[in-house]
Amino acid sequence: MSKERAHRSHYCEQLNTGHIGESITVSGWVHRRRDHGGVIFIDLRDASGILQLVFDPSNKELFAEAEKIRSEYVLSVSGSIRNRPEGTVNTDMITGEIELLVESGRVLNPSLTPPFHHAESANEDIRLKYRYLDLRRQKMSENLKLRHQIIKTLRNFLDADSFIEIETPILTKATPEGARDYLVPSRTQQGDFFALPQSPQLFKQLLMMSGFDKYYQVARCFRDEDLRADRQPEFTQLDIEMAFVNQDQVKDVMEKMIRHLFETVLNYKFDQTFTQITYAESMNRFGSDRPHLGIDMELIEVSDLMQDVEFKVFAEPAKNKESRVACLVLKNQLDISRKQIDDYTDFVANYGAKGLAYIKVHDHKKGIEGMQSPILKFLSQECIDSLAGRLKLENGDTVFFGADKSDIVNASLGALREELAKDFNLVRSGWFPLWVTDFPMFHWDPKEKRWMSEHHPFTAPMTDNPKDLTADPKTALSLGYDMVLNGNEIGGGSIRIHSQKMQSAVFEILGINAAEAKEKFGFFLEALQYGCPPHGGIAFGIDRIVMLMTESTSIRDVIAFPKTQTASCLLTDAPSQAGKGQLKELGITVKSKADS
Ligand code: AMO
Ligand code: AMP
Repeated sequence: MSKERAHRSHYCEQLNTGHIGESITVSGWVHRRRDHGGVIFIDLRDASGILQLVFDPSNKELFAEAEKIRSEYVLSVSGSIRNRPEGTVNTDMITGEIELLVESGRVLNPSLTPPFHHAESANEDIRLKYRYLDLRRQKMSENLKLRHQIIKTLRNFLDADSFIEIETPILTKATPEGARDYLVPSRTQQGDFFALPQSPQLFKQLLMMSGFDKYYQVARCFRDEDLRADRQPEFTQLDIEMAFVNQDQVKDVMEKMIRHLFETVLNYKFDQTFTQITYAESMNRFGSDRPHLGIDMELIEVSDLMQDVEFKVFAEPAKNKESRVACLVLKNQLDISRKQIDDYTDFVANYGAKGLAYIKVHDHKKGIEGMQSPILKFLSQECIDSLAGRLKLENGDTVFFGADKSDIVNASLGALREELAKDFNLVRSGWFPLWVTDFPMFHWDPKEKRWMSEHHPFTAPMTDNPKDLTADPKTALSLGYDMVLNGNEIGGGSIRIHSQKMQSAVFEILGINAAEAKEKFGFFLEALQYGCPPHGGIAFGIDRIVMLMTESTSIRDVIAFPKTQTASCLLTDAPSQAGKGQLKELGITVKSKADS
């Protein structure tokens, strides 16, 4: 028989007044230790929660041991459960009515003094360096438990609908999703590199060509891009693909899946089918293709009212088709200060805006007299009256203007809309999902001077005719769709190109010539010619979904071991230098940092 002692008879939070008088053993970490006039109290924490231990000084030997115990020591203790004395019951704790009077125990392992006591207020770099300590926190462990619940629920839903999970390679060839690739050098073919997948896009399409009708994968993706609170270089997608489907069928199943997820995990029922708006409408009304619909403020078009005004800043964009003049009305905030407006002007400048004209409405009945603004002198009474009617101006309103190329107005007022809503508490609570559809196929990249895919190069256009697409890439729309939740793009997908001719036409528009297409995607273009079924799919950002469902502000808080803004891991100190021998085997010489 094993001589090993059992570390526990119960988890801390399994214990309650029903166990009074029972002899039990629990193990865990010292969460908190208090010396109370000769009695030592320890809050012992295990995976379930917390139980109060009491060390009585009458047990001298044990008490002497307990005096040496510090935070985060690992203990195993045995004793009997008793009621807490009158007046000491803690109703905030699940085990707040009871305590364990310790009769025997051992320190299983001591701990160094932890580098932080209150991780909530600790610097994030320290939290990441000592991530295993940070993850001991209740909030972090709850986040990861909910993440598990979410992934399990999604898998169960898909499994019940005959989707099968298939793994695809990590060491592979580039999949263009708009970011830089992470490269892995090959030892067996010196000078050649694998790329880590930016997504399993090409493989899931190949699986449709292989005859698998409904595929999914909880897939790790790698993108070397500028990082933000909702972006990591290594992140997880729920990747999905279906054969012989149209856009509505994909959206329908996916909407059912997200409803099922929220019902199962958060017990929340969306009361309506998800709103659906086109990309053009979304940009027009919200200045963004991922609008937060819990904010009522919208961009209001006023170009038609500004075409003949003296103020050139407005008149010129008002007359230009590629530009617009639009407004945001902040209701009931007249005491907004000059300094705040200057700060918002700096804020929109980050999005390319050259200024932020405004009008404050003190007394709308008085017309111009009742308003305050540096631009009133340039606007006629008639223009102001039409503006007041269009914007339904009321006393206390502040109107902000954006006048420029449409993409600058959209980006700046779209961001200002969210910023004002945050600052003035205008975001309604609740869940606001929507589909955005009818995206442009391409956008022009002025730096690279070429067309870029709005989604990715495998997205089908609305037209079936490659010649139409080539003739007018600018106005071509795609069969792409995004799911947006509370201002976050949580998923994106499309119906795919399934004809080799159309795929080649798209590559050509993107400036990928036939030789380059063959070199990069030859295998795929060839596969398209062996009986490819029509197909489509989507990928959801699992980290973003978990971030929203746990009400976290960064996806780093829902990933066990995330990277920093500079794409490094502070815990393991990766990336790090490779050994000389390793580099030699790979045929790689590294320039010293000073040389580069
Ligand atoms: P897309 O590039 O839109 O589509 O990605 C799908 C979803 O993944 C999430 N996401 C990210 N999450 C965290 N960090 C990142 N760096 C990051 N980048 C993207 C977003 C996004 O909506 N192959 C296509 C899908 C398809 O067409 O089926 C794709 O990857 O939530
Ligand atoms: P100016 O005549 O340059 O002093 O500008 C008068 C007002 O118009 C100021 O409040 C500027 O912030 C604002 N303004 C300037 N350019 C723009 C623009 N492109 N869009 C919106 N407001 C602007």
